[in-house]
Amino acid sequence: MRLQGKTAIITGGANGIGRATTEIFLREGASVVIADRDTETGLALAQGDERALFVATDVSSDASVAELVRRTVDHFGGVDIVVHCAGVAIAGTVTSTEPERWQRVLDVNLGSLYRICHEVVPHMQATGGSVVTIASVQGMFGWPNWAAYAASKAGMFGLIRQMAVEYASDTIRFNAISPGAIATQLGANTSRLEPGFVQGPDSTAQDGETPTPAATKPRLLQSGKPEDIAQAALFLASDEAAYISGQNLVVDGVLTCSAT
Ligand SMILES: NC(=O)c1ccc[n+]([C@@H]2O[C@H](COP(=O)([O-])OP(=O)(O)OC[C@H]3O[C@@H](n4cnc5c(N)ncnc54)[C@H](O)[C@@H]3O)[C@@H](O)[C@H]2O)c1
Repeated sequence: MRLQGKTAIITGGANGIGRATTEIFLREGASVVIADRDTETGLALAQGDERALFVATDVSSDASVAELVRRTVDHFGGVDIVVHCAGVAIAGTVTSTEPERWQRVLDVNLGSLYRICHEVVPHMQATGGSVVTIASVQGMFGWPNWAAYAASKAGMFGLIRQMAVEYASDTIRFNAISPGAIATQLGANTSRLEPGFVQGPDSTAQDGETPTPAATKPRLLQSGKPEDIAQAALFLASDEAAYISGQNLVVDGVLTCSAT
């Protein structure tokens, strides 16, 4: 087992990519703290597994994230790994995105990475650790109508590189994964959790990244599965990636390989 004896916090761990990561990390021997706003689903996922703990968390709140890390350390004695999957997809161009929606997307998706690392890094400094954040190919290339979302994901790369350098001497590694189109309920979950923010002039309740299943296509041309991203997170979180830090791993089939 690749994560035996490790404790991992997985934000957004109740659904989609985070849920697949929770399941794989538990199978690989980790103790897992599922940190999510979706209490019903998160509690059900953790139930009956003594290595799983659900902590109701809003990653946009300083106090909530501080409480998450405090409860993790109290319960499991420390924290070795963070996989930051919690995020929302809210559409809009720069002109159609009002300041409140811009701020909300930046706060939930990017401010949360600062917030979690601010709390967790002091607990990793003596022992080392690994932080993996789920960014997006939309942080690397432009798709119309996703201004704030793209900015929130692109900002992750700068922060990841910065922390990789600042905490290399503590053997804490920081990496990003950039998925392409992955079959999850991101758009639906965003609509449920952010009803006041998804409605805007250019917004759609539908996530631009939520794919239509196309099982007849060759595998590398289809939408990805949450497990495809979770397996990449497992590698980056594990000791197998001990010499990898400050990087962005693209997991998108061949989506961004072609110019056409
Ligand atoms: N699905 C895709 O195609 C795709 C592509 C690229 C990047 N991503 C990124 O992957 C990550 C996971 O997305 P997903 O597709 O699994 O979505 P999802 O909606 O299935 O899961 C997101 C989870 O985050 C939780 N969450 C949302 N806001 C939260 C908050 N403020 N505090 C705590 N938890 C919160 C939700 O409850 C949910 O469980 C996101 O950061 C997303 O931007 C997804």
